[in-house]
Amino acid sequence: MLSGGTETRVDLVPQTPQLIALYTVIRDRRTSRGEFVFYADRIIRLLLEHALNHIPLVPRSVVTRLGVKFDGLAYHEKICGVSIVRAGEAFENGLRQIARAVRVGKILIQKRESGQARLISVRLPRDVSQRWILVMDPMLATGDTAKTAIQVLVKAGVPLERILFVSMFACPEGIQAVLDAFPRVTLVTGAIDAGLTADKFITPGLGDFGDLYFGTC
Ligand code: URA
Repeated sequence: MLSGGTETRVDLVPQTPQLIALYTVIRDRRTSRGEFVFYADRIIRLLLEHALNHIPLVPRSVVTRLGVKFDGLAYHEKICGVSIVRAGEAFENGLRQIARAVRVGKILIQKRESGQARLISVRLPRDVSQRWILVMDPMLATGDTAKTAIQVLVKAGVPLERILFVSMFACPEGIQAVLDAFPRVTLVTGAIDAGLTADKFITPGLGDFGDLYFGTC
């Protein structure tokens, strides 16, 4: 159960039958790696498209091929995806397919035996502080990695309001931990599962995302 009004900063992607069907495939222990990658990629596209709704648009009028004015909208903000290596790199292709001028940065964080997160390396575009940031990490579990990554972005000058943390799965413990530390960050996710196992896996979840996606299990 989440407390303290955190729900307002959590955007759970609408749980359409279509989305639940996609998640059912990737959760299923019998799903082959090829199928897992195919359906995970579909979900990633949906999550990223949904996350882009948080980025403000400006009015833009165009003239159609019929010579008629159409009052529409356009992006004018710059976007940067930041993948949490290695699992978050699975989002990079999907992001490049939907946001043409996007820049992509990377943050490598190692989990110590104690479970604590240790920052190993950071690569961000020079103008990162002027961009909207989509932090990409499939599993928001304890929130330790997420908090470390957000801290890096804050240090680089990114306002918290411009950070969207996009995950495929989240759980109440991770959501609470991130929003307690950074109440103005927005979390976009496609599934909020029941909780964490003793080994800090999201349950019912799907297992180790990186191993399943990159075929290392
Ligand atoms: N990372 C994973 O890959 N899976 C989990 O359930 C939690 C963290």
